[in-house]
Amino acid sequence: MILSSETQPITIRQTPASAIESMLPTLIERLQETVSGGVGLGFFAPLSYRMAREYWLSIIPELVHGSRILLTAHDDSGFVGCGQLALSQRQNSPHRAEVEKLFVATAARGKGVGTALMEGLHHTALAHGRTLILLNTRADIPARQFYKSLGYREVGVIPGWTVSASGERYDHVTLYKELTYAGAARGAVAASSV
Ligand SMILES: CC(C)(COP(=O)(O)OP(=O)(O)OC[C@H]1O[C@@H](n2cnc3c(N)ncnc32)[C@H](O)[C@@H]1OP(=O)(O)O)[C@@H](O)C(=O)NCCC(=O)NCCS
Repeated sequence: MILSSETQPITIRQTPASAIESMLPTLIERLQETVSGGVGLGFFAPLSYRMAREYWLSIIPELVHGSRILLTAHDDSGFVGCGQLALSQRQNSPHRAEVEKLFVATAARGKGVGTALMEGLHHTALAHGRTLILLNTRADIPARQFYKSLGYREVGVIPGWTVSASGERYDHVTLYKELTYAGAARGAVAASSV
């Protein structure tokens, strides 16, 4: 899937489990950078190399199974971001998926990469029959406004949902978006061995 940002084309790829090992150094470095930048994505800063590596390796079984999908964004400098879709495996929710671990490399933010990734995730969700998309984010970070600018609606704030390393509690907000097939004519996300 090729999407043009203001400055240059961004390629959004579905990255298979088989590509994780070769991308590990970049994935680890960018995840560490994001966590150090103040958005923990489930981790405490500083995120160790070992823990970041274990995290990326831990998603491989779900990627193989097909219950999780990893999209990566690339410009001519290489990897610039990623996001995941967790497809509900429950019998009563074949229409539901969650967006997880979306982040853009610090130097590439504000250029449309995050939006391109979300469009790719939406397209991929629809391709898997998933129309109800959920996500959860800290209430005090810019991502909250980012998701709202993409049409996500807030369900509400859960006080103290997560904690920092020092024990400080953070409020989180849950958001959702109902996708329609009418708005999904942007082309397929390419499966790639990267
Ligand atoms: C949130 C994030 C993924 C957005 O990616 P991005 O590539 O910077 O976003 P885009 O350039 O596509 O921005 C699209 C819109 O989002 C909103 N937005 C993005 N960053 C914003 C910020 N820092 N403050 C306020 N609004 C912001 C704006 O409405 C923007 O539209 P505009 O360009 O017309 O102003 C990225 O900033 C990031 O990786 N942040 C750290 C990790 C994180 O917070 N992940 C989400 C955890 S749930």
